[in-house]
Amino acid sequence: MKEEKCKVSENINIKGKYYSMKIETAYIAKKSRPGNFVMAAVSTASDPLLKRPFGIFRAAPPFIWLYYEVVGKGTELLSQKKKGDFLTLLGPLGNSFPGLENKNILLVAGGRGIAPLFYAAEDYVSRNNLFLIYGAKSAADLNLLDKLEALNMTGTYFYTDDGSAGKKGFVTTDIREIIETQKIDLTISCGPEAMFKSLNGELKGLDVENYASLEAIMGCGFGICYSCAVKSAAGDYKKVCADGPVFRLEDIEW
Ligand code: FES
Repeated sequence: MKEEKCKVSENINIKGKYYSMKIETAYIAKKSRPGNFVMAAVSTASDPLLKRPFGIFRAAPPFIWLYYEVVGKGTELLSQKKKGDFLTLLGPLGNSFPGLENKNILLVAGGRGIAPLFYAAEDYVSRNNLFLIYGAKSAADLNLLDKLEALNMTGTYFYTDDGSAGKKGFVTTDIREIIETQKIDLTISCGPEAMFKSLNGELKGLDVENYASLEAIMGCGFGICYSCAVKSAAGDYKKVCADGPVFRLEDIEW
């Protein structure tokens, strides 16, 4: 991990509150693995002072990409960055998704959880049979469909809560049937806590390995402040930044 002053190469509004930022960062781009994240200092002013965590969406040295939703002051400031502006990043941070080949992998993305899974998909697709379930609240929140299409995965399934795009339902609606018919070996998921809770219930008892990439509020990003602690199924606490963000789904208490 290293702190780098990086140059913004582009900051594109994809749709509504969603943006994609391309950043020139020689060290972080070279060292990143799918699943890693960065801490971005969104402002040089004292408010908001802290860095914000972002899962890496793509990496092709010397660039990385972040995919983000404007949800508060920090991401609002990030959305105002222009080409040529500088941004301080710390990274790459956290563990990464497992190295896999010749597997039937099901990626499960909820909302902006698609970002780290897209990076995983780019890495896995040539060596595995890759499937994706991607769900969001509505069509306004279901993005990157052209980029996902271009990956030529073996199967893709899209859902929205209100039925405005894809099938009306949730990522869990058909998951057991998909796992059975596609002979899935393992699932890798990223999304909001409510999604993990229901996934954990749906996947219980099935003969698949399940990995989850967690989001958390983070102060430091590398294990010293405990702001990201989550309770494990064994009863102790895990730091999402340093022990994760990728965990076995069943190792976390949901
Ligand atoms: Fe500080 Fe995880 S963010 S310990």
